[in-house]
Amino acid sequence: MRVIGNWKMNHGGASCRELARALKSGLALNAGVSVGIAPPFTALETVCSELRGGGIQIGVQNIHWEKAGAFTGEISPDFVKDLGVTFAIIGHSERRQLFGETSELVAKRLQGAVLNGLTGILCIGETLEERETEKTEAVLEAQLKTGLSLLSANDAERIVVAYEPVWAIGTGKTAKPDQVAEVHRFIRDIWKSHFSAGVPLEILYGGSVTPENFGELANLDGVDGALVGGASLKPELFCRLVSIAGEVTCEK
Ligand code: PGA
Repeated sequence: MRVIGNWKMNHGGASCRELARALKSGLALNAGVSVGIAPPFTALETVCSELRGGGIQIGVQNIHWEKAGAFTGEISPDFVKDLGVTFAIIGHSERRQLFGETSELVAKRLQGAVLNGLTGILCIGETLEERETEKTEAVLEAQLKTGLSLLSANDAERIVVAYEPVWAIGTGKTAKPDQVAEVHRFIRDIWKSHFSAGVPLEILYGGSVTPENFGELANLDGVDGALVGGASLKPELFCRLVSIAGEVTCEK
């Protein structure tokens, strides 16, 4: 199992140290659970130095594909790898919806992350309108196929897919277990047709994950963990999510 906390645009200043320390002291790490957090860029140096060697992976919330150059406002994989970053969240629905990131751009970011040695967490998800008009599968298939289009099966071990229905993010409306199970099965089918049946895939669920709903979701076949927003800002909640992942890993 994997549990990743996305801090979004929070704790980018001095308060990141306190949150990192609270995680360091509160997390009971378990060999079967990979734990990661993605603070804002400005907090990376502090958080990486606080957590160095402690078994918590540090990631970024976005990444450019070039190593350096005239790309105002962008950050290269090399810059963050030097700090100790190991993964990048790519194509989060907030990037797609608020900043106009297309699946073609997402594909370039994912390729840049993976070819530069980072694990890329490729986020996909449908809006409420798309779900209500029965476009969920078409939307997810397009986001996934385009997102993966610049990579080959050899790169697949550095790709994790996060299914995050847009209507469930930050709304308190978690997707129902049967909705999650159905979509995760669908994503696996697309993945197999894109790469090949033998290429393993890890899929996280994201969208209002809390300690109250995570146990049931994590126990579903085909759910390999969670991408967590709001609850990752509260150390007590995040630590409980990691413990739940540990328990589910033992049971599964
Ligand atoms: P949430 O965010 O847990 O606050 O719904 C999830 C995400 O955006 O990754």
